Amino acid sequence: GLPARVRVHEVGARDGLQNEKATVPTVVKAEFIRRLAGTGLTTIEATSFVHPKWVPQLADAEDLYPQVLDLPVSLPVLVPNERGLDRALALGARRVAVFASATESFARANLNRTVDEALAMFEPVVTRAKAQGADVHVRGYLSMCFGDPWEGPVPVPQVVRVCKALLDMGCDELSLGDTIGVATPGHVTALLTALAEADVPVSALGVHFHDTYGQALANTLAALQRGVTTVDASAGGLGGCPFAKSATGNLATEDLVWMLRGLGIDTGVDLGRLVATSVWMAAHLGRPSPSRTVRALSHQ
Ligand code: HMG
Ligand code: MG
Repeated sequence: GLPARVRVHEVGARDGLQNEKATVPTVVKAEFIRRLAGTGLTTIEATSFVHPKWVPQLADAEDLYPQVLDLPVSLPVLVPNERGLDRALALGARRVAVFASATESFARANLNRTVDEALAMFEPVVTRAKAQGADVHVRGYLSMCFGDPWEGPVPVPQVVRVCKALLDMGCDELSLGDTIGVATPGHVTALLTALAEADVPVSALGVHFHDTYGQALANTLAALQRGVTTVDASAGGLGGCPFAKSATGNLATEDLVWMLRGLGIDTGVDLGRLVATSVWMAAHLGRPSPSRTVRALSHQ
């Protein structure tokens, strides 16, 4: 059966904007997050405390984060290392995310580390974050769970190994990333089945699909059928990863909410307000949203 409720983990302000060529002013980002919070979304990833030269678009994290911290929503941020954790904690962040890779090629491209060196870098981050208090929540992203632009299809056991390592480290939740959008529903089912067989509780799993091949919704449905109730999406379908050629936008939050609403699954999100937010953001970015649902509902 399908779940009664799904938590949408909104990544538009982070995954969506990190790849934008033109610099988006900090005030526009703050207003974007404010408007997203006004749609009923409860988890809105705000930015990343990474090296500013690696992701220039998010170099304003220190300016942005205090501007949105008053919002009554969770505002997770990405932290690759202790330096990033220190920056996030100094501003009051209570939800942080480390981001691992299932493949050596992407670990090198994204983190300048091997897979295991990256895990060693995250270990003190997770330990120190959890030591801050019971209300601190740590997400572990895992990229390239299905296919990798350099290595091709990624074997399921290779993904399961890194998932286990992240959970053993103390991550509260994992997000299974299809960074370049090559997954198909059978592959999603195979990975979730293998994780269940490895005693990974499905309640600790989220899915993170990019929509390069138009499979993100089908993949999401396959994940829901396996008991997943946390789904990452980006308003208007913004997004991509600057370190993974061929990564396009995430599953659009509007497309997700449209499907879930049709299935009678509650998200708490006001679709009309969300579409209006993406149309507003598209005007700032100077191009229409790639989301089919945004286009259908806005005559964009
Ligand atoms: P490195 O060059 O190996 O860094 O990069 P280092 O540890 O050797 O440090 C070098 C210098 O950087 C030092 O300064 C550090 O202090 C500084 P120096 O002493 O030379 O003056 N530094 C920092 N400064 C500010 N904030 C920091 C920080 N860390 C070090 N946090 C590093 C290693 C991890 C830093 C770098 O590779 C990096 O920042 N990578 C970030 C990549 C990224 O953000 N990618 C996008 C997010 S992942 C994604 O999009 C996928 C996802 O959506 C899921 C999916 O779709 O699959 C999550
Ligand atoms: Mg992503």
